[in-house]
Order: sequence, then C-alpha cells, then structure tokens
Amino acid sequence: MARAALRFVCSSCGAAVPKWTGRCEACGEWNTLEPETPAPGVTSRRAGRSAGRGVDFVGLAGETPLPERVPLGIAEFDRVLGGGMVPASAILVGGDPGIGKSTLLLQAAARLAGAGKRVLYISGEESVAQIRLRAERLGLRGAPVNLASATVLADILAALDAERDVAMVVIDSIQTIWDETVESAPGTVTQVRANAFALIRAAKTQGFALMLVGHVTKEGALAGPRVMEHMVDVVLHFEGDRGHQFRILRGAKNRFGATDEIGVFEMTGRGLAEVANPSALFLAERHGNVAGSAVFAGLEGSRPVLMEVQALLAANPGGSARRSVIGWDQGRLSMLLAVLDARCGVKLSAQDVYLNIAGGLRVSEPAADLAVAAALVSAATGVPTDPETVFFGEIGLSGELRQVAQAELRLKEAAKLGFARAALPRRVAGGTRRIAAPDGIALAEYGHLSDLVA
Ligand code: TYD
Ligand code: MG
Repeated sequence: MARAALRFVCSSCGAAVPKWTGRCEACGEWNTLEPETPAPGVTSRRAGRSAGRGVDFVGLAGETPLPERVPLGIAEFDRVLGGGMVPASAILVGGDPGIGKSTLLLQAAARLAGAGKRVLYISGEESVAQIRLRAERLGLRGAPVNLASATVLADILAALDAERDVAMVVIDSIQTIWDETVESAPGTVTQVRANAFALIRAAKTQGFALMLVGHVTKEGALAGPRVMEHMVDVVLHFEGDRGHQFRILRGAKNRFGATDEIGVFEMTGRGLAEVANPSALFLAERHGNVAGSAVFAGLEGSRPVLMEVQALLAANPGGSARRSVIGWDQGRLSMLLAVLDARCGVKLSAQDVYLNIAGGLRVSEPAADLAVAAALVSAATGVPTDPETVFFGEIGLSGELRQVAQAELRLKEAAKLGFARAALPRRVAGGTRRIAAPDGIALAEYGHLSDLVA
C-alpha cells in the first residue's frame, strides 16, 4: 500500500509544501509550517473510482433567479454582504482578537432573531454565562437567540441535524472547534479545514447561512482564516485600531456581490453602533489651520468618505531619512516624494516624512495622491491648506494630474459636509464629460502638480 503523502501547510496563508522549512516561502511568515495528516479515508481512491454519469452542458442564456437574501437588519453589515446573507452560504468573518467580532455577530444574531428568524449562536470561546453577560451589556437580553457553548464538531453537527428552518448559525470561533476523528489539536490547519468543510456542508444541505468567526493570528499558533478562504462564499475582514473607536467591515471575497464595500461602526460602551455618515466622524477631530493637513474626498466601494491626510516633516541632517506611513502605501509615498522632487522642485530627501490617515482608515485609492501631495507641500512650506477645500486626483510620474472615478459623488459628499472648494484634475479636451459641480462647491482644476505647488 502506498504511504499516505505527508505535506506541510502554512497556518498563516495555507500554502502547502512537501518539505518543512523555517519560513513559509509563500507568505514569508516564520515557524508557520505544520505537518498535515490526511483525514482518515481520504487516501488515494484511484482504484475504486465509480464509472460516473457524465455532466450536462447548457447555454449561457437561461433562467437565472437572483439569489434570495436574508437581511440582517444592520445596514452597514448588509451592504458589505451585498444586500443581506444568501441562504445556504458560508461567510467568514476574520479579524484580530479583541477587535469586536463576537460583539458584532451577537448583535447581528439578536437583530435577526428579533425579526422572527431562527438563529443559533454556538460559542467555543465563551461560556453561556459570559455571553449572557455580554448580551446584557449590549441591551440584547430579550432577543430570542438560541445559545450554546460547544466545541466538539460531532455534537454541533448532531444539533444542526435536528434543527429545521434555521436562518443563521454563528460559530465563534472556528479555531476552537474540534473534530475527534482528526489527529491534531484544535486550531491547527488540519482541524480548521476539516471543521470548516463539515460545517459548510451542513449549511449547504440544510439551507442556513453560516457565519464563521476566524481569528487572525500573527504567531502562527492558530491557523489563520486564510486557510479557509477558498472554501467559503464570502470573506469579510473586521478591522480597526484598538486605540480608535472605529471599526470597519470590509469585503475581501464575495461570490454574490461586490467586494469593495465597507461597513463602518463605532465601538461604544453598548456595543457596535452603525456609522451612517463616516465622513463626519473621520473629520470630527480635525483642526483647521495646521500645516501638513489636507482633506481627501475618497471612495470606499459605492460610498464617498472624506478623511484627513496628515503629513509631518522633521529635519534629519545625517543618515538616511525615515519614511513612516500609516494607512497608505509606502511605495506610493516614495513615488510622490520623487515626483515632488523631480517635477516640482520640492526637495524632502533630507527630511523624515511621517504620513498618517487620521482615524485609522486604510486608503488604497491612487485618487488620494493629490491630497497627500497637498499635505506634504503644506508641511514643507508651513502654509496650511484651505480648510474648506477637499482634494482628489491621481498623480502620474511626470507630475500630471489624472482623472479619477466618481468625481461627482465625491463632490456631493464634500458639499454635504459644508466644504466650499475642491481641488481636482483638469478635464482633458475630448476626455471625460463635464463634471457637474453641486451647489456651493467651486472647482479648482489643475493639470500639473506644479500648478498646485505654486
Ligand atoms: P469582542 O467582540 O470580544 O472581540 P473578538 O470577538 O473580536 O475577540 O470585543 C472585545 C472588545 O470590545 C473588548 O475589549 C471590549 C470591547 N467592547 C466594548 O467596548 N463595548 C461593548 O459593548 C462590548 C461588548 C465590548
Ligand atoms: Mg470573540
């Protein structure tokens, strides 16, 4: 009999390799490779494969009903899901320990249960008493959620099997669940995969939406959510800074919707509150008239969000200058500094540069270039940017300003929050159609970054 192939799987990214190494080649994490023991019965079946019945092929056109949706009733959550949960789907909610995953899912469970749906909340991390205490704190004691504390997979599957008409099952967290037939400890790659697979299969056959909580771990002691990402239908990241009260729910994968939507929450003494107007929140602590600050009119999914970009320069006469970035791309900052130097004569090479997106947001849009440049130039000259102006636009390597998507949406949001002016890329002749500025906003269009610097 052939020996069962032993391989090593990275608990951080899920990459599989035939040989153990100290550092995962795929993700670069150290000490994350662990041996994967094949689950019993999944050795080579080549010899015994059945003849098969063939598959039917059809045309592209045909009846395609939209997936049914079960809204949770939390607008920020439902938007990220693409309009609610799809029955018989699996949703993975990943995030750092302590960020608020259990709080979010208990609130979602309570809301759905309150709307008359059958909801099961199974925790492997906390006792029933602890969850009740949390519910009390959240003011959710009266919600008809069915609560259990369990970790053994077989027990959970048996319980699910006995259920009918369940809308949602929460498993908090997948890393605590234990399949007795798998010879490794809970939280290992093998366990997490086997448990996720079994629970997802239960969700598909019984028709409930499955919410799996997954802790992101840096140490590799627990298998991270990435080892399950390919198995689930939707992957959401719950992120934020523990020092800030904002929490952002971000779609990373969604088989039923867009992945660029975010849900914004605020962690309060009574749980997570939805933030319907994130711009106001992100700009709340802004002090006008300080050099090195500019307001960026950004876009998160379909929603415009205004945020403050802060830059600080410090003289660094000797040695190599520091470039420290929070919330933006380090490489993009280097590029902008080079463009400012080469095309606009703004030399910052002997200065330490600190860049920060206030409020703990993370921006990936190139549209932030202009706001970052404005903050840098303002910091370099000591002249504050106009506190009533928002900035957006991409900057090319020659210093030219480039159009970005959804200019009108950004302008509308700026007008709504009382801004009077917007700095943006000049329209090119024959290019994009005319931008209709909303009432109360004057447009300052620039063709080249040096125009703005001047
Ligand atoms: P939790 O949901 O337990 O995080 P996770 O499940 O992601 O590990 O939330 C943990 C933090 O949230 C905890 O440090 C306390 C804080 N918190 C509040 O600030 N307000 C609240 O109402 C609750 C329930 C928690
Ligand atoms: Mg938790």
